[in-house]
Amino acid sequence: MKAKHPIDSITTLTDLVLPGETNPLNNLFGGELLSRMDRAASIAARRHSRRIVVTASVNHVAFNKAVPSGSVVTIEAKVSRAFTSSMEVYIDVWIEDRESGFRTKANEGIYTFVAVDETGMPVKVPAIEPQTALEKERFEGALRRKQLSLVLGGRMKPAEATELKALFAE
Ligand SMILES: CC(C)(COP(=O)(O)OP(=O)(O)OC[C@H]1O[C@@H](n2cnc3c(N)ncnc32)[C@H](O)[C@@H]1OP(=O)(O)O)[C@@H](O)C(=O)NCCC(=O)NCCS
Repeated sequence: MKAKHPIDSITTLTDLVLPGETNPLNNLFGGELLSRMDRAASIAARRHSRRIVVTASVNHVAFNKAVPSGSVVTIEAKVSRAFTSSMEVYIDVWIEDRESGFRTKANEGIYTFVAVDETGMPVKVPAIEPQTALEKERFEGALRRKQLSLVLGGRMKPAEATELKALFAE
């Protein structure tokens, strides 16, 4: 299988925040944002693998900035690393200033998707070769995040998490 680049999976979703999607402070409801991020990330994982993909875990989400009603929100998702059947997808969320059009980073998330066949069994995905400095940085950290997610999910013994142990030994 030929290796791909993160740019091959890039997925951009731009949409409005409408009143029915907000919390009592008139900011975007967190669950609504998670759902939009999941949609964008699943398309990115599908573009990388060209297979059916399922969300295996939400590894990290930071709601750093509230997103007010009426905002134009852009969600950008890209596969940051591919393992055997799983893919880490990085999601950046931007809000656009109405007058200047200037984009500010509001939130980010990291999801894991698994490519599966028609029966739901995991299947192999192409490797990935990062190109930019940011893609290389995200690629480097992905194995550590995978191990953390597996340990927290009870799928890996902490003693086997070599990347995590190396982090604490530094
Ligand atoms: C995700 C799923 C396909 C994994 O299947 P499985 O039989 O446990 O398969 P495996 O243990 O071989 O894991 C497959 C891959 O997923 C990865 N994985 C599984 N759980 C993970 C987790 N919590 N965090 C990170 N990676 C995980 C494994 O490390 C493995 O990766 P690799 O092949 O790249 O090394 C299966 O659990 C599933 O179908 N879950 C439901 C998915 C779903 O419906 N999502 C929508 C939410 S409602």
